[in-house]
Amino acid sequence: MKSYGVLALLLLCFCVCSATQQCNIQGQWRNNLGSNMTIQSVSDNGAFAGVYLTAVSSVNTKIVESPLTGFWKKSKQPMIGFAVKWAFSDSLTVWAGQCFLNENNEEVLHTTWLLRSKQKALQDNWKATRIGVDTFTRLK
Ligand SMILES: *[C@@H]1O[C@H](CO)[C@@H](O)[C@H](O)[C@H]1NC(C)=O
Repeated sequence: MKSYGVLALLLLCFCVCSATQQCNIQGQWRNNLGSNMTIQSVSDNGAFAGVYLTAVSSVNTKIVESPLTGFWKKSKQPMIGFAVKWAFSDSLTVWAGQCFLNENNEEVLHTTWLLRSKQKALQDNWKATRIGVDTFTRLK
């Protein structure tokens, strides 16, 4: 009889625990290029801040950590939007995406980004924006 109680408790925990599993954007992430992102403070209105350390760069200056700020719409698989003001180059990147739980219940953040590089003149505007995709997983 006693072992049924333990079994029931385990079953209950398993159901509750897996049902409440959701993407939490706070913490450390790493993308497909090896860039690291730490989302530090997440406020109740959905605003957050953090730092981004890129593994790649289109300029020759030394890469350093850059500040990040964004919003998310809290849900089980939340949407996310954020911007990084690069500390080592005259450029900005914005990302938009969504955090999904994959078949192993692991968080995967799929994003599309735009990188804006400063141009000297209007005639150069056409070449100012790069686009790409980044996939982030939790840094363990
Ligand atoms: C990201 O973090 C990992 C683990 O701490 C580290 O090995 C790697 O060098 C970092 N990437 C960059 C671009 O600094």
